[in-house]
Amino acid sequence: MRILLGVPGGIAAYKALEFARLAVKAGHSVRVIQTPASLRFVGRASFAAITGAPVLASEFEDDPSKGSWPGEEPGLHSPISHLALIERADVYVVAPATANTLARLASGSAEDLVTTSALAAQCKVILAPAMNGLMWDNEATQANVKTLRAREFEVLDPGAGQLASHGEEGTGRLVEPHEILFAAEASAAGAEKALAGLRVLVTAGGTREPIDRVRYIGNRSSGKMGVEIARAAKQAGADVTLLAANVAIEIPSGVTLIRVETAQELENAASSAFGQCDVLVMTAAVADFRPVGVPSGKIDKSQGTPSLDLEPVRDILRGLAAERAPGQTLVGFAAEFGNGVDRAEAKRASKGVDLMVYNDISNTEIGFDSELNEVTLLTAEGRTAVEKQTKQAVAGRIIQAIAELRAS
Ligand code: CTP
Repeated sequence: MRILLGVPGGIAAYKALEFARLAVKAGHSVRVIQTPASLRFVGRASFAAITGAPVLASEFEDDPSKGSWPGEEPGLHSPISHLALIERADVYVVAPATANTLARLASGSAEDLVTTSALAAQCKVILAPAMNGLMWDNEATQANVKTLRAREFEVLDPGAGQLASHGEEGTGRLVEPHEILFAAEASAAGAEKALAGLRVLVTAGGTREPIDRVRYIGNRSSGKMGVEIARAAKQAGADVTLLAANVAIEIPSGVTLIRVETAQELENAASSAFGQCDVLVMTAAVADFRPVGVPSGKIDKSQGTPSLDLEPVRDILRGLAAERAPGQTLVGFAAEFGNGVDRAEAKRASKGVDLMVYNDISNTEIGFDSELNEVTLLTAEGRTAVEKQTKQAVAGRIIQAIAELRAS
């Protein structure tokens, strides 16, 4: 695959070197264009050495390779350099996409090679943002991201954690180079999409069961894992419906969203959509019990401590698995406390699902409020450990596993 890498001027530009290295190592042909500002952070000699091709940093430079890609014979005449590379790229990756770059791309500016190439791109453009957390959160940046996503730019979510400014934490870190490569490989124009033409139903978040009109029994699931699975399925070419139970995070564009609150609402929505789906991924944390006889008003505490009568909630996944049609693939999640891989495997078999994704929620580095996850994929064929990485990357691995299950 021909990957054009545009490098704007940001501290994380050094990570673009690692991205180029991984892409070349994976067998891709990489050309690099830089903004003049980025040359202050990383010299072009480093990119040239890694890619084995000259690096351009201005529209007025001649390309010694005459628009060719590594492994190709140079052309006979000099092309108009600012268009030649993007014209034949399979994917264009801009990393680190600084706040300024996002603003310039959103406004359609063409003042350097990196922005001009984005404007002329016929292939997928992937932007990997990196900036200070306050700049990322700023309304102007968020509006630019929204504009770019609406125009089919793929804007990767920046990671959270320590930022370049001394002692600062927040959202704005460049996602890891291997994840950018994953996104590039997944969305390259013409590439075989792993779930093309399939209808995927994903549930995410955690249900809330009312105690009275203002209080509820809930759980800590944020919905992040399910949202990332919906995003990855969409990127893999699927038609995706997301049943979101109390999810407060942004939903990927192009995904059909149905919001629910209670387990009953989730069950109703899942039951009516299940018949039309090829794949069900049940990440939602569903209440196991719900209060019965819920008062129509608010429980008055002056009346003393109330006691709650609970009734069990039907297992939605088990119910749907029992009525599955041939060709449907079902995926469940088992969040277990402590080493529960055997319990998760038993759940896979008893609920009748094809893939159970197990994680250990006693590990505070992963799971509920974390950007990271570490899981084991359990199928009838065996167990596959997926090392600790972002939920976005884990979602990619799960989608890959689903594609493999369907292929076998
Ligand atoms: N699930 C479901 N309906 C429920 C409970 C769980 O569909 N009422 C699904 C979850 O979405 C998940 C899987 O079943 O995909 C495993 O959930 P888990 O809560 O671990 O299963 P339980 O059978 O409820 O096990 P436990 O007794 O450990 O809570």
